[in-house]
Amino acid sequence: MSDPAGRKTSHFISLWRTLPDDEVYTDTYRPQYHFSPKMNYMNDPNGLVYNATTGEYHLFFQYSPQLTSMGNQVWGHAVSKDLVNWKEIGIAIDREADGGKIYSGSAVIDYKNTTGFFDESIPPASRMVIIYTVPRSSETQNIAYSLDNGYTWIKYEGNPVLSSAVSGVKTFRDPKVYWIDDPAEANGGIWLAVIAGQLEGDKAQLYTSRDLKTWTFNSIIYQQDGKTEVRSECPDLFRIKISDTETKWVYSGAGKFYIVGDLEKQSDGKYYFKATQAQKEYPVYSNGRYYATQSYFNTPSGDTVTFSWCNDGASVSGKTWVGCQSLPYLVSLVKDSDGSYYMTNTPVSSVSSLRGETKHTAADKTLESGSSISIESMTVY
Ligand code: FRU
Repeated sequence: MSDPAGRKTSHFISLWRTLPDDEVYTDTYRPQYHFSPKMNYMNDPNGLVYNATTGEYHLFFQYSPQLTSMGNQVWGHAVSKDLVNWKEIGIAIDREADGGKIYSGSAVIDYKNTTGFFDESIPPASRMVIIYTVPRSSETQNIAYSLDNGYTWIKYEGNPVLSSAVSGVKTFRDPKVYWIDDPAEANGGIWLAVIAGQLEGDKAQLYTSRDLKTWTFNSIIYQQDGKTEVRSECPDLFRIKISDTETKWVYSGAGKFYIVGDLEKQSDGKYYFKATQAQKEYPVYSNGRYYATQSYFNTPSGDTVTFSWCNDGASVSGKTWVGCQSLPYLVSLVKDSDGSYYMTNTPVSSVSSLRGETKHTAADKTLESGSSISIESMTVY
């Protein structure tokens, strides 16, 4: 089949059954201010991106539509105007024609049409491209694009676009892609991808691309000692402004640990992440129950905002869905007394719209050790 512009496309039909919308979000155990799927199994947040044409934040997620457990992963999809109220809109990236699963990845806005997927009818802020992993005997990276503000997706006919340049690795997945301003480049910048290595002997790798289709290996990411390879699932690499004169980069290891450092382009023209301090545990850490943290490619304010998968584990009787997403967190770095940085995670301001009426407040009470207090008031969420 072809799209209106005559390009070859793939089409999938997914049939799924769910409860009516007025019943689905009132079922027992349903969280009311964390996003959860109508039915079935959700894990990692994927493809976090903001479309300024529609004013919509997109939240894609690892989704197993037939099971209440892992197994048939594709990309589910929800949209929101405020990061708090979400509308689930079904499957965005379905399985490969041969049944191949779709694993985690990220999304970008291709403002400059580096891919050539778009024409002038698609405004720059709507030029959405996804990069995701297809896990087979080896794990490869693939891309898809949208001509309708992210509601439907066309898989690139030239997939896969990237296999590991480092031989012998077993896991090579969960690509997170950024745009790096670089005046030496014709387009004023270059795409940078960090790709995970999870298992013993595997490693986080950096690649660059001018069009998201052809990728060049740049470097391996090391700890501060310069020789211990960093390894995790769901890597992320984000830039945090500390002051007008200082920015730092953070390698985020699936929301379990982070490493603060700098991103440098060296004389060989390649990009390197240089850790400037030891790895630290994430502020909200729960041994994998809060996991796969990913940041938005872009936000209107330029802030770094993340979601994490809250892994609520096995289903309980009568519960027709598994997994929810964390609150949206604003990520910052603060300088510690020893000169190193630590990360803070704060719910974004729109979360306060969830606050109910203030019924009680205990603000002026001091609780002495061993004593009791009668709370006259507290804020109800
Ligand atoms: C992390 C993870 C990713 C992978 C996905 C599969 O939870 O294992 O590494 O892409 O889940 O669903």
